Amino acid sequence: MDMMKCVVKEEKGEGHVVLTTRPVPEVGDFDVLIRVKAVAVCGTDVHIRHWDEYSQKRMNPPTIMGHEYAGEVAKVGKCVTSVKVGDIVNSDSHLVCGTCDLCLNGHSDVCYNTQVIGVMRDGAFAEYICIPETAVNKCDPSMPIEQLALMEPLGVAVHAAMEFPISTKKVAVIGCGPIGCMGVAVARTLGAAQIIAIELNEQRAQMALEMGADAIVNPVKEDTVARVKEISGGLGVDVVLDFSGNAGAIQTAIDYVKPDGYIVAAGLGPKPVELPWENFVTKGICLKGISGREIPRTWERMKGLFAAGLDISKVITHVLPLEEFEKGLELMEQGKCGKVVLKP
Ligand SMILES: NC(=O)c1ccc[n+]([C@@H]2O[C@H](COP(=O)([O-])OP(=O)(O)OC[C@H]3O[C@@H](n4cnc5c(N)ncnc54)[C@H](O)[C@@H]3O)[C@@H](O)[C@H]2O)c1
Ligand SMILES: [Zn+2]
Ligand SMILES: [Zn+2]
Repeated sequence: MDMMKCVVKEEKGEGHVVLTTRPVPEVGDFDVLIRVKAVAVCGTDVHIRHWDEYSQKRMNPPTIMGHEYAGEVAKVGKCVTSVKVGDIVNSDSHLVCGTCDLCLNGHSDVCYNTQVIGVMRDGAFAEYICIPETAVNKCDPSMPIEQLALMEPLGVAVHAAMEFPISTKKVAVIGCGPIGCMGVAVARTLGAAQIIAIELNEQRAQMALEMGADAIVNPVKEDTVARVKEISGGLGVDVVLDFSGNAGAIQTAIDYVKPDGYIVAAGLGPKPVELPWENFVTKGICLKGISGREIPRTWERMKGLFAAGLDISKVITHVLPLEEFEKGLELMEQGKCGKVVLKP
């Protein structure tokens, strides 16, 4: 039996994340075996290490971690027709059923039967991952593999930024971690008139500027409402994209978003968010939560955005061998990075 190296959450509880070897997965008739060439570390992987509530609800270890990846087709099942050995591919982390009423009506982002790779089934912190052909996305092989590995988190930014029209609009982006920074770049490519990045981590705020923000606001050191109104010319912004999940930040956004404005909620925080209800209702604000990516729509949109010049290269701050996954998890936990990409 061929063996492969991989990073596994071995059992429930704090820690238990180890580099080990497992058999290369069996390839079923409708499956594609992918030789992983790049896999990014996600905040979720840090949460899995600490066995937070999200992991406790969804994971049944032992499970190979990792869900943001790209690689090369190594083997295909005998019924597979859409890809061949050697193709460069990636996939969503959400394997959706394709048969429920939500999937059939174009809302696969909230499919009832979603299986998350690297969480509910074996993931891509490994030399190989096996997934159904229906989930495989064929990539432009001329693109850097590290960036192709980021299409999953990029898709969250694209889904959020395209939920409401932002071309020619003034936009605030809260939380400029990797996804927020990519949100800034997406908003720029989509033709936003002005982008104000709100972030307390100075290194990340700087990255937001590099990725296309016009101004940055530090919510700890500055009066966010006053600053956003001042920068936007007095009235506030048309659209807010939240990638922080921070209750205080979202409450504040209700004050600086214009009446009839939009708030897109993508960030997930540990605490419930209480809204200043009267202000929210009487300003006629529209609030929309988004989950993952719409499949295949968001993936098509990402390809279009790359063709239109979207550049996410600056969000990648570290490329490490898979063996250094611990360092990657540490960097992510401390927020001392953009995206960390591992090479198996
Ligand atoms: N909706 C979805 O489907 C989905 C998918 C993936 C990730 N997420 C969530 O999206 C968010 C962004 O992901 P990420 O990987 O970039 O996470 P991240 O944790 O690296 O980034 C969050 C950023 O928010 C900043 N922040 C915290 N409080 C803030 C405040 N009060 N004001 C301004 N900024 C503040 C942090 O400093 C950090 O840089 C996370 O909350 C994550 O859980 C959602
Ligand atoms: Zn992720
Ligand atoms: Zn479904």
